[in-house]
Amino acid sequence: MRSFLFLTPALAGASAILYQSTPSCKSTPLDSLWPSEDDWASLNTTIKGSLLRTIPAASACWHGNPFGSTISCETATDKWFNGTWHSQQPESIDYQIYANNTCLPKDTAGYSAERGCSIRAFPQFIVNATEEAHVAYAMKWASDRDIRVVVKGTGHDLNGRSSGAYALAIWTRNFNDIKRDTAWTPLNSNDSTAEDVFVVGSGQQWGNVLSLAMSQGRVVTTGQDPSVGLGGYIQGGGHGPLSRTYGLASNQVLQLTVATATGKVLIANAMQNQDLFWALRGGGPGQYGVVTEYVIKHYPAPSNVTLGILGIKPRFSTNVSHEASWTTAAAFLGHLPDLMDAQLAGAATVSTGNAAPKFFPDLASQQPFHGVALNQVFWAFNTTPAAVEALLRPVIAELNPGNSSNSSVAISLSISTFDNYTAFFSVISGDNAAGGESVTSSRLLGRRELVDTPQLDIVRYLKIAMASQNSTEGTYATIGLQGGPGVRNTHEERWGALLPAWRTAYLHFISTGATSDSVAAGSPKKALGDAAKWYEETREPMWRKWAPGSGAYMNEANPFNKNFAEDYYGEGYERLRSIKAKYDPKESLFVLAGVGSDAWEYDLDTGRLCRVQNSTTTA
Ligand SMILES: Cc1cc2nc3c(=O)[nH]c(=O)nc-3n(C[C@H](O)[C@H](O)[C@H](O)COP(=O)(O)OP(=O)(O)OC[C@H]3O[C@@H](n4cnc5c(N)ncnc54)[C@H](O)[C@@H]3O)c2cc1C
Ligand SMILES: *[C@@H]1O[C@H](CO)[C@@H](O)[C@H](O)[C@H]1NC(C)=O
Ligand SMILES: *[C@@H]1O[C@H](CO)[C@@H](O)[C@H](O)[C@H]1NC(C)=O
Ligand SMILES: *[C@@H]1O[C@H](CO)[C@@H](O)[C@H](O)[C@H]1NC(C)=O
Ligand SMILES: *[C@@H]1O[C@H](CO)[C@@H](O)[C@H](O)[C@H]1NC(C)=O
Ligand SMILES: *[C@@H]1O[C@H](CO)[C@@H](O)[C@H](O)[C@H]1NC(C)=O
Ligand SMILES: *[C@@H]1O[C@H](CO)[C@@H](O)[C@H](O)[C@H]1NC(C)=O
Ligand SMILES: *[C@@H]1O[C@H](CO)[C@@H](O)[C@H](O)[C@H]1NC(C)=O
Ligand SMILES: *[C@@H]1O[C@H](CO)[C@@H](O)[C@H](O)[C@H]1NC(C)=O
Ligand SMILES: *[C@@H]1O[C@H](CO)[C@@H](O)[C@H](O)[C@H]1NC(C)=O
Ligand SMILES: *[C@@H]1O[C@H](CO)[C@@H](O)[C@H](O)[C@H]1NC(C)=O
Ligand SMILES: *[C@@H]1O[C@H](CO)[C@@H](O)[C@H](O)[C@H]1NC(C)=O
Ligand SMILES: *[C@@H]1O[C@H](CO)[C@@H](O)[C@H](O)[C@H]1NC(C)=O
Repeated sequence: MRSFLFLTPALAGASAILYQSTPSCKSTPLDSLWPSEDDWASLNTTIKGSLLRTIPAASACWHGNPFGSTISCETATDKWFNGTWHSQQPESIDYQIYANNTCLPKDTAGYSAERGCSIRAFPQFIVNATEEAHVAYAMKWASDRDIRVVVKGTGHDLNGRSSGAYALAIWTRNFNDIKRDTAWTPLNSNDSTAEDVFVVGSGQQWGNVLSLAMSQGRVVTTGQDPSVGLGGYIQGGGHGPLSRTYGLASNQVLQLTVATATGKVLIANAMQNQDLFWALRGGGPGQYGVVTEYVIKHYPAPSNVTLGILGIKPRFSTNVSHEASWTTAAAFLGHLPDLMDAQLAGAATVSTGNAAPKFFPDLASQQPFHGVALNQVFWAFNTTPAAVEALLRPVIAELNPGNSSNSSVAISLSISTFDNYTAFFSVISGDNAAGGESVTSSRLLGRRELVDTPQLDIVRYLKIAMASQNSTEGTYATIGLQGGPGVRNTHEERWGALLPAWRTAYLHFISTGATSDSVAAGSPKKALGDAAKWYEETREPMWRKWAPGSGAYMNEANPFNKNFAEDYYGEGYERLRSIKAKYDPKESLFVLAGVGSDAWEYDLDTGRLCRVQNSTTTA
C-alpha cells in the first residue's frame, strides 16, 4: 500500500543547511559547495539506501570497466538499439547525444574512441525511488544545494529531457502498481459520483496497462509503442491510436500524486492543488514535480478494427511524374480532415531522396528521386472494410482520375480487418528503436492549413518540410492523424494546460532532415547547435508561415525552437511560469524548451547549467 507520508519537521530539518545566495550556476562536483561523500551517504541513509551512483550502461566496453559495471559489453552492444532495454537501466536514455555520447559501445551513432567514458555529462546520482516521501526529500535536499534535478521514467525522451549533466536523477520505474478501481472518488471530494478508473504508477509503460485493460475488455489512451511510459507522455499531452476518438492522454487524468522540489507530497485533482493539476495535464513534463501516480479514465475496447493502407508514389522516373507526386500528396492531405471527421485515424510516413526506397523498395529504380512517397495507414473501429473503402474510393478517384496505368502517380489501397484491438495494436507498434542522433521539428495542422491554403502553397511548404540538409540523402516525416473530433470535443475541465492549438488540429506533422552527426561535427554540442541553426533558418519559419498561431506537440518537437513558449505552451505560458515558481522556486527542474528555460543556458561541453547573463550585467 502506498502511504501518503508528509515529511515530519525533523526530517525536513535535516536539509535546512542554508545556502542563502542564489548562485548563477547549478552546482557541480568542481564547486566547493558540492556535497561531500558523507553528505551523499547521509542522504542515502535518509532515503533508505535507494541512492545509486551512476554507472553508464555500456561502460564495461571501456578500458578497465571504469565504473565497475555489472552489464557486459556484449549485452550493452547487443541491446543498444533497443529502447525497452534502455528503459530498464537507471541512467540510460534512448538518445545519448544528450548525455554527450560518452561511454558508448563501438559502432553506434556518435561513437568515437577519443570521447572516452566519463560520467560528467550524466546525473551523478540516481534515486531508485519506491516511496513518494523519499522523492520529495531528495528533491528538496538537492534544490537546497543548487543541484539540478532530472526525472527519468523510461528515458525515451527525444530531447534529452530525462537526463542532465551533474544532476540528481529521480528514477520512477519502480512506481509501477496498476489497479482498476471501479468506484473511485477523488480524495477529499464531497461528490458521490464514482468513476471507473485505472490507478497506475508513473513509471509504468503503456503496454502493461493496455494488457491489463484489454483482459477486462477495456482500452487506455496509449502511445503507438508499448514501451512508452506514462510519466512524460501524459504531461506533454500524449497522442496515440485512440486520441482521434477520445482525446489525448492528458485529457484522461482525474488525479495525480506529486512529489515537489519544495519537499511535499501532494494530491492534485479538481478539488485540491488545482494549479498543479492543471499544469501537469499538458503543461510539460519534468518541470513542476515528480508524478508518482496517475488516476486515468478508460474506455470499452472496440470489437474490431479495420486497417486501410494507402500508398502514393510517382509511377515513372521522370520529372513530370515526380512533380505530380508532390501535387497529389498535397491534395491528399486536404482530404484528411473530412476523413477524420467521418471516422478514420491513423499515421503516415512520407519520404524523399535516398530515404524513400527504405519505405518503398521499388523506388530504388527511380534515382535520383525528386518526388515524394507517402504511405498512409488508416484505422477505424467497429466498422467494416466496405465502409472504410467507401470513404476512400472517392478520394482516390479524385486524386487519380481513372486510375489509368499511364497516369503519373500510382495509388494503391489494401484493407484488412482485426478481430480485436490487441491484434491491431501489435501490428501498428513495435518501432522502439533507440540509439539515433536526429533532431525533429514539428507542427500541428488544421483545416486552415490543409484545406483553405492554395495547393501551390501547400506543395511549396511540403517541399521545405521534406527538405534535407544533405539533399541526396533525403529524409522522412511522420504524420499523425491524432487531432480531430476526440480532441476538439474534450470538455474544458478535462483540458488542463494542454496547448489550445490541439483543439483545431487534425495532423501532427513531425519532420526531420537536419544533419546531426556528432562525430563529423566534433562534439554533440556542435552537432545539436548546427541542427538547431538549420531548423531556425529554414524549417521553423516555414511552419510559422504555413500555420501562424498554431503550435507543436512539445514531446515530439524541436527543443531548440526559439519560439517554444508560444508554440508549445501557448496562452497558458504565464500561468505555468507562476505555478512553476511556486512548486520549483529554485528552478531545479530544468529541461530544454521548458517553462522559463530561456533564463538558463545548458552547455553540453562543460556540463554547466547557468543563468543567462545579460552582457551589460557586471558579474
Ligand atoms: C519508441 C517511441 C514511441 C513514441 N510514441 C509516441 C506516441 O505514440 N505518442 C506520443 O505522444 N509520444 C510518443 N513518443 C514520444 C514520447 O511522448 C516522449 O518520448 C515522452 O518523453 C516519453 O515519456 P517517458 O516518461 O516514457 O520518457 P522519459 O524520457 O523517461 O521522460 C520524458 C520527460 O518526462 C519527464 N518525466 C518522466 N516521468 C516523469 C514523472 N513521473 N514526473 C515528472 N516528469 C516525468 C522527464 O523528466 C522528461 O522530461 C514516442 C517515443 C518513443 C521513443
Ligand atoms: C546507498 O545505500 C545502499 C544500502 O546501504 C548501498 O547499497 C548503496 O551503495 C548506497 N549508495 C551509494 C551511492 O553509496
Ligand atoms: C529488447 O530488450 C528487452 C529487454 O531486455 C527484451 O525483452 C526484448 O526482447 C528486446 N527486443 C528486441 C527486439 O530484441
Ligand atoms: C531499484 O529498486 C528496486 C525496488 O527496490 C529493486 O528491485 C532494484 O533492484 C533496484 N535497482 C537497482 C539498479 O538497484
Ligand atoms: C465538502 O464539504 C465540507 C463540509 O461540508 C466543506 O467544508 C468543503 O468545502 C466541501 N468541499 C468541497 C470540495 O466541496
Ligand atoms: C529534372 O529535374 C532535375 C532536378 O530537379 C533537373 O536537374 C533536370 O534538369 C530536370 N530534367 C528535365 C528534363 O527537366
Ligand atoms: C465490427 O463491429 C461492428 C460493430 O459491432 C459490426 O457492425 C461489424 O460488422 C464488425 N465488422 C466485422 C468485420 O466484423
Ligand atoms: C494513356 O494516356 C493517353 C494520353 O494521355 C490516353 O489517351 C490513354 O487513354 C491512356 N491510357 C490508358 C490505359 O488510360
Ligand atoms: C489501379 O489500377 C490497378 C490496375 O491497373 C489496380 O491494381 C489498383 O488496385 C488500382 N488502384 C486503386 C486505388 O484502385
Ligand atoms: C485477437 O485476434 C487475433 C487474430 O486476429 C487472435 O489470434 C487472438 O487470439 C485474438 N485475441 C483475443 C484476446 O481474442
Ligand atoms: C550526403 O549523403 C550522402 C549519402 O548518404 C553521402 O555520401 C555524402 O557524403 C553526404 N554529404 C555530405 C556533405 O555530408
Ligand atoms: C562533451 O564532449 C566533448 C567532445 O568530446 C568534450 O570536449 C566535453 O568535455 C564533454 N563534456 C562533458 C561534460 O562530458
Ligand atoms: C536582461 O536584459 C533583458 C533585455 O535588456 C531584460 O529584459 C531582462 O530583464 C534582463 N534580465 C536580467 C536578469 O537582468
